[in-house]
Amino acid sequence: MDTLTYNQSEIRFGNLKDSGFNALLSSPRYAQSKKVIITDENVFDLWMEDFITSFEALSEAEIIQLPPGEENKVLDICNHVWSALSEYEIGRNDLIINLGGGVITDMGGFIAATFKRGLSFINIPTTLLSQVDASVGGKTGVDLGPYKNQVGVFADPDYVFIDSRYLATLPNVELDSGFAEMLKHGLIADADYWNALKSVDPKVIPAGLLETIHQSVLIKRKIVTEDHLEQGQRKNLNFGHTIGHALEGFCLSKNKPVPHGFAVAWGMIAESFISREMELIDARLFDDINTTIRSRYTHIDISNSDIDQIKPLLLNDKKNVNGSISFTLLTDIGQAVYNQHVNDELIDAAIRFILNREV
Ligand SMILES: NC(=O)c1ccc[n+]([C@@H]2O[C@H](COP(=O)([O-])OP(=O)(O)OC[C@H]3O[C@@H](n4cnc5c(N)ncnc54)[C@H](O)[C@@H]3O)[C@@H](O)[C@H]2O)c1
Repeated sequence: MDTLTYNQSEIRFGNLKDSGFNALLSSPRYAQSKKVIITDENVFDLWMEDFITSFEALSEAEIIQLPPGEENKVLDICNHVWSALSEYEIGRNDLIINLGGGVITDMGGFIAATFKRGLSFINIPTTLLSQVDASVGGKTGVDLGPYKNQVGVFADPDYVFIDSRYLATLPNVELDSGFAEMLKHGLIADADYWNALKSVDPKVIPAGLLETIHQSVLIKRKIVTEDHLEQGQRKNLNFGHTIGHALEGFCLSKNKPVPHGFAVAWGMIAESFISREMELIDARLFDDINTTIRSRYTHIDISNSDIDQIKPLLLNDKKNVNGSISFTLLTDIGQAVYNQHVNDELIDAAIRFILNREV
């Protein structure tokens, strides 16, 4: 069982049943705590029986099942959960266990961090995306209309348990979605990793991805350890997300949600296009990124006439400084630069470029 630490969190990799999870729940730190499991309906159906029957310490746990999907990562749902926690008389010494994808770890972390000014929580991510990215790093929160992650706090889980067995039931589209964040890790921090990922198909034996997941978590952990509150280089993790979040928010507002990673994948092409136009990377590197990502991700269903509705969403991005849209761009494969101002025409051209299916 491999273990990493960052800030106040410990991350354990491998089969949850061999991870010391039960012993931990029975240890003095949590033995007296009431345990509440927050999950979504899909994960409940697929994994809850296995989960609660495997760990004696969960025999009395309360289970809160939420409707799945990004459209449910909202304050209304948090309200319901906070009310349920009050009904269960959950107090400061009790424990929340988030079992699910990034929606559950983001929202469950937020619910825990804000209820009675903060409960301890443990993340057990069950999607590739949440294992390589969302469950680690301490960003929690919910969306507000079409604006992604507008309400939230930084809060670290006590533990993250990463068990790739959960990926065995994950639909292919969600495996591809998570893979986009891994490609991002290569692009912003590690050229060798980017090149190695080109021969990985996450859909082939997903449970065998643990080593690759570990590599992504190492990259993310290094960045978030050095800049926990995103004052500097942590902004590099937002590569692909400025335009990606606008695409995702737009599709969400039209009731046709796209997986987060697909929006990020197309956002990475757009922001690489901007990097090339600003002469930060050359045409050869851009072609490598464009062809690699295009070959893996189906187009998002938007058209040129939607651009006028997508662009205003960029103005509410959390990275913006003094009303100016701030981008993370690439200067090489494996190297990024943050706080880059990009003019309006270039943003327009980048979005038009990704809408063009002929390139
Ligand atoms: N906090 C961060 O640093 C951070 C980083 C990246 C992304 N995110 C957030 O993560 C979210 C996306 O996460 P996601 O892609 O995991 O979405 P998700 O939680 O919606 O999960 C995707 C789908 O997979 C299902 N699912 C989950 N585990 C499963 C399993 N083992 N088998 C079968 N189905 C399963 C879910 O029910 C859902 O339908 C977005 O809201 C994004 O903003 C947060």
